[in-house]
Amino acid sequence: MATANQVRFDNLLKKGDLIESTSEMTPEYLKELKHTLIVSGDTELISAPAYYMATKRAPSVNAFMTGIAIIQDELAHAHIAYHILEELGDDEETLIFERDPKSFRYPYAFDVPLESWPELAIANAFYDQAGFCLLGDIHEQCSYGPWKRGLVKVMAEENFHLRNGRTWMKRIAAAGGEAKDELQRNVDWMFPLTVEWFGLPDDRKMHSTQLEYRLKGKTNDQLRQWWLSTVVPYCESIGVKVPAHQEGENWVLDYPFPCTFDAAEKRWDFKDPCSWDDVLVRWRERGPRNVQMVADFQESYRKLRAARQQ
Ligand SMILES: [Fe+2]
Ligand SMILES: [Fe+2]
Repeated sequence: MATANQVRFDNLLKKGDLIESTSEMTPEYLKELKHTLIVSGDTELISAPAYYMATKRAPSVNAFMTGIAIIQDELAHAHIAYHILEELGDDEETLIFERDPKSFRYPYAFDVPLESWPELAIANAFYDQAGFCLLGDIHEQCSYGPWKRGLVKVMAEENFHLRNGRTWMKRIAAAGGEAKDELQRNVDWMFPLTVEWFGLPDDRKMHSTQLEYRLKGKTNDQLRQWWLSTVVPYCESIGVKVPAHQEGENWVLDYPFPCTFDAAEKRWDFKDPCSWDDVLVRWRERGPRNVQMVADFQESYRKLRAARQQ
């Protein structure tokens, strides 16, 4: 028989009301909420060291300051998610500074190094657009009040990040010559990596608990379609080629999905389709930058603590 708490929870959810505290949740909802927040916090946090490497190669002081401003935003976004987790009983410092690199839950794309300014421009246009779609969906649907309100700030800033990426991509494409060729070469590896960002296709996995609890509103494939519908037309409008096209209402990829990726060479082999199990193995092993990025902020923290104790 359902407990009184369960009945109250079911009613809140059914009415579309917001949940404001742990006393209104079931243990299953708390678990699912925490999982969603960890993925969000880890993704925001890891984007900071990922973007910093490329920001150091900014073509001007002005561009460098924009890169730093975006990194500062990302750290604040991470703090929103971790702070909510702390209120739900976790410890923010342990979550960030004591965890093993492989236990961080963020998209594989960030494990492939961003080594140049054009790569950062594309990351802002593609990765931040992915974040905008995922978080926009959560912001609209979210049944947990504190996070729904926190996401107002996040959405405004993600919009600024992706606009910055688009502006720079357009500027580089308009320059033509070798600059445009380099942009295209980077789009060639970063586009399929962002298509993967949205996870397993719906026929492999429908994360129905998150949908049921209103911790997301769209399925992985619906979110992927949304992303494609914004990115493909934009790239085409600035003369950058992407391997996807529109058929009726749908966006269709022009390559086998999934297929193999060589992270060291930043190269996809469209002639070598693979299984989703192969992709899951690559994701679990993590990519070249995982250990270094986590070590960067965890070592700084240890040094800071040691200095405080002296
Ligand atoms: Fe962010
Ligand atoms: Fe962002």
